[in-house]
Amino acid sequence: MDTSDTTKPCNRGWPLVLLPLPLQGHINPMLQLANILHSKGFSITILHTRFNAPNPTNYPHLSFLSIPGVVVDGNISVSSIVGILNFIEYLNDKCFNPIKEYVFVTSVADELKLPRIVHRTSSVSSFLLFAAFPVIRDMGYFRRYSDEAFFVLSQSYEHFFAEMKSEALVKGFEPLKIKDLPKFLTSDPEGPFHKYFHASSSSLLAQDQTSISWLDKHPHNSVLYVSFGSLASIEEPEFLEIAWGLANSKQPFLWVVRPGSIKGSEWLETLPDGFLERNVERRGYIVKWAPQQEVLAHPSTGGFWTHNGWNSTLESICEGVPMICSPSFGDQFPNARYVSDLWKIGTVLENGFERGEIEGAVKRVMVDKEGTEMRNRVMNLKGKVDKP
Ligand code: UDX
Repeated sequence: MDTSDTTKPCNRGWPLVLLPLPLQGHINPMLQLANILHSKGFSITILHTRFNAPNPTNYPHLSFLSIPGVVVDGNISVSSIVGILNFIEYLNDKCFNPIKEYVFVTSVADELKLPRIVHRTSSVSSFLLFAAFPVIRDMGYFRRYSDEAFFVLSQSYEHFFAEMKSEALVKGFEPLKIKDLPKFLTSDPEGPFHKYFHASSSSLLAQDQTSISWLDKHPHNSVLYVSFGSLASIEEPEFLEIAWGLANSKQPFLWVVRPGSIKGSEWLETLPDGFLERNVERRGYIVKWAPQQEVLAHPSTGGFWTHNGWNSTLESICEGVPMICSPSFGDQFPNARYVSDLWKIGTVLENGFERGEIEGAVKRVMVDKEGTEMRNRVMNLKGKVDKP
């Protein structure tokens, strides 16, 4: 074990070792959980890869141990479900032995009867949905069901199915069977974690604070916040459709364009020269990464166009912000369906990125009566989440 960047363990309380998947959407809730558990008196060690390592100086009260040997090169892309599954497979392969050798392993934990917990970052419903995939597949629904949740995953579901079957997703922790699921789920769920601890300290990218001073200049509920999370990437024509849709809607927007998230581009260079000056003027502001929780909590933010990662979805609900949904992969599809069809606090862009549909959706959520109704419903939901 490489302990060169290990901070001094604080020897208080029962020891707990947390191992986050090294991706932003997993690191945030895991470090929030670490803080919650620390506040309950546990002594916490975070096991992490050097790739996407958290910054230990933000957490002097936690200990950090680096797992050696995880080198992420350009061949691994985590912007698709297949890429993520390959990445998990790679991590399982590279991390299992060091963890086994130096820290603990299931067989040891079993022998000593040590309790262990798997922290899923997705919602319970999508977790159950994924766990049911083999059954759904065996019943033949993949060929008939047309919802994107199945459709997109069906492109890679053979792979996904193999992963679920081989239990690689939970390797080293809990082999899962659907009939056993209830006993793995707590009946008294904690969370949302971010209400206890802000995600800003675990952000892997610098959050542009000018987002907040820009929002300060705008009226209540007038700005649409646009961000598709830390992984999703889009094609150049889609990027241009988004830009035109936003411009044509004539509504103010704060848009996070993560560097590298447009395939083949570094940042904004594919926007035609003078596009923003001619079509947007001061109505739009583009940043590379925003302090998302603060943005959603800002009174000027009136809507969130999101990819519906579960963190983003929860953060939006907790601030009472209605959504435009553009899910990209995995749990984002069922999350978007919950937002639009069940809770009715948002609308899904059903045809990908098309400027006319985007313009219509932005107006519906930001200006129309329908948007006000969505805002009322999400405020109601926020009230339920706020209840102690
Ligand atoms: C991934 C999956 O996509 C998601 O579906 C799964 O539920 C968790 O892992 P990601 O795509 O990054 O996560 O989305 P999300 O879950 O929304 O997490 C993004 C996090 O980054 C949020 O906590 C958000 O507050 C933060 N963020 C995002 C910023 O701090 N600044 C930004 O500009 C954008």
